[in-house]
Amino acid sequence: MKKSIGPDKVKTAVFISGTGSNLKNLIKFSFKKNSPISINLIISNKSNAEGLKYANQQKIEKKIINFINPKESEKKIINLLEKKKISFICLAGFMKILSNNFLKRFNGKVINIHPSLLPKYKGLDTHKRVLKNNEKFSGCTVHYVTSKLDSGKIILQKKIKISKTDKENTLRKKILREEHRLYPRAIKKIFY
Ligand code: GAR
Repeated sequence: MKKSIGPDKVKTAVFISGTGSNLKNLIKFSFKKNSPISINLIISNKSNAEGLKYANQQKIEKKIINFINPKESEKKIINLLEKKKISFICLAGFMKILSNNFLKRFNGKVINIHPSLLPKYKGLDTHKRVLKNNEKFSGCTVHYVTSKLDSGKIILQKKIKISKTDKENTLRKKILREEHRLYPRAIKKIFY
């Protein structure tokens, strides 16, 4: 991974809660010349989020904000984002709901990825529910964030066929691979 953080790139924060494969992928993307964003801050609500290792590896500033008191936590985050002149936020497996107040402050500049064909299957255990309902297709969606769970205007969506042999785990892996293609494409769509 070669770092190229141009001064003209949009300063971006990525919020995570877990594994961070989308974070890893976005960091890799941000280093490319044709990426409109640079990643300057990583926020996690969990101190043991596996994805934090990518912040360490790439020496990107990280902050743990526990969200025990959501209002106070959001205040802290807003201060941090302002201090670092962050103007764009990518949620990547971030499992907390952001308030209207917070989102208004970053009006139209917070996006999320979800592993389903929204508006279907919002929330948790997506793949399990999709398989239980014998769906033939699933996929992933990048969308603008509102204070309602996994809602907001869709930016891009990718549909995939579910095979008869798919289990929760194989479907998760298949869709994650597509997420890693879709998220950078959606960001380019916004800025170019
Ligand atoms: C991804 O599948 C992402 O779409 C999902 O969490 C996973 C995080 O994986 N997000 C949501 O369900 C949001 N409602 P990662 O930590 O490896 O990027």
